[in-house]
Amino acid sequence: MRSLKHLFDNNRVWAAEMLQRDPQFFEKLVAQQTPQYLWIGCADSRVPANEITGLMPGEVFVHRNIANVVVHTDLNCLSVIQYAVEVLKVKHIIVCGHYGCGGVAAAMQTKEFGLIDNWLRHLKDLYQKHEAELEGIEDTALRLDRFCELNVVDQVYHVCHTTIVQGAWRRGQELAVHGWIYGIRDGMLKDLEVYVESADELDAVYRMAGKRL
Ligand code: CO
Repeated sequence: MRSLKHLFDNNRVWAAEMLQRDPQFFEKLVAQQTPQYLWIGCADSRVPANEITGLMPGEVFVHRNIANVVVHTDLNCLSVIQYAVEVLKVKHIIVCGHYGCGGVAAAMQTKEFGLIDNWLRHLKDLYQKHEAELEGIEDTALRLDRFCELNVVDQVYHVCHTTIVQGAWRRGQELAVHGWIYGIRDGMLKDLEVYVESADELDAVYRMAGKRL
């Protein structure tokens, strides 16, 4: 399997289909990308941003990592946010988690997984922050689902606190941050209603998340 021929075969079929739908499709994409959305999601192969939102190439700028974590010292994630906000001028940043997230689940265990434990440390810290609520949920699957939701809320908060988003709002740039979660079992997206479009609304994030229960 040196060449992974089937993937190239798939690609040829896909490119032909795109041209059949719109003969200028690739020409237009070459000219520019003007996505309205930045998607920050989990690297999980079952949560592909474009497919589940029905968006075409050119319509969503994407950053994915394990458990959709936004860390203030992560230059990779911050660079994506900066480029999306300041150059592409996206109007929406969507932080999308998913139920049953393996990364979030791993952070709830004491088992060691290697290098990734350092990344999951961020989630372990979050678990401690929400320990009282999470430990109160008997059912382990439900507890994981709630932690997946709380993780989205926290990452929305982190996005809003970046100098990039704060700066955009100060300049009066139109920019909203959303927290969503995706159900692998049914393919449905759910809005967690932690919607922030100005620095003034930031403190309301946790209130909004709490109200949902
Ligand atoms: Co995941």
